[in-house]
Amino acid sequence: MNKTEVDDREYSKLKSLINKNLGFHCDQYKESHFKRRIAVRMRATNSHNYSDYIGVLKNDPEEYKNLMNTLTVNVTNFFRNPDSFQIVENEVLPDIIRSKSDSYNKSIRLWSAGCSIGVEAYSIAIILHKLLKNEFKKYRINIIGTDIDNEAITRANEGKYTETELKGVDNKIIDRYFEKKDGWYFLTEELKKIANFKWHDLISSPKMSGFDLVLCRNVTIYFEKELQEKLYTDFYNALNPGGYFVMGKTETLVGESQYLFKPYNSTERIYYR
Ligand SMILES: C[S@@+](CC[C@H](N)C(=O)[O-])C[C@H]1O[C@@H](n2cnc3c(N)ncnc32)[C@H](O)[C@@H]1O
Repeated sequence: MNKTEVDDREYSKLKSLINKNLGFHCDQYKESHFKRRIAVRMRATNSHNYSDYIGVLKNDPEEYKNLMNTLTVNVTNFFRNPDSFQIVENEVLPDIIRSKSDSYNKSIRLWSAGCSIGVEAYSIAIILHKLLKNEFKKYRINIIGTDIDNEAITRANEGKYTETELKGVDNKIIDRYFEKKDGWYFLTEELKKIANFKWHDLISSPKMSGFDLVLCRNVTIYFEKELQEKLYTDFYNALNPGGYFVMGKTETLVGESQYLFKPYNSTERIYYR
């Protein structure tokens, strides 16, 4: 067997180990992205090839945790891509609120898919509170955040952030919606109450439905094209009629999904059903 064949064989072995121990569906992610992330951990553990790294994983189960952190790329910000949030604040959420204002239970359901530490979901919660003002309590708002990274989910449920994580957020918003204690910024209970975060794998977990708004931003960018198409169809099916779908600024609808959604604001990657 030459070096490339050995490398390929060890790479396959590594993927099986990751799949078995982390439940991470390696083959559904873009190979270039996946290999780059593995390389980060290989460098950190002084592994010269996949075989060395398999040895590290076998000897130190803690390394699986580091690997998961590296594979899941949790980078996120409050009001990330402010231009998109402007449209959501000025047009999308007011339209959703209008469509519910006459209904009996005034239920609004939103989903942040691939929510990381929860700041996308809480950005939406803040905007809804600003828009609804005194009417806020009259609505049954449920924001669901899902992710495959348990550590991120725990942080999201805690709703507490560092000063760095709040960088760029308007001071008025920080003063109104966060309480500072022991160096942390705690989100107000009123907003925490309307958000729930749970483990859910977009690739293999049961499908969800009944949402007025789905945000899936900066997640599918890491997936193979076939999976992207399948997921966009899932998001379409997850929406109530008239519901909105917001993608990341660098993501585009592919395949059949392009014909399912109606464009609302293509520049900001906002679509509706
Ligand atoms: C870069 S963050 C995006 C966070 C947020 N949506 C934003 O745009 O700021 C990508 C998130 O997707 C999650 N993710 C990756 N694969 C996933 C999967 N198969 N199912 C659910 N979440 C996934 C990662 O764990 C990570 O927290």
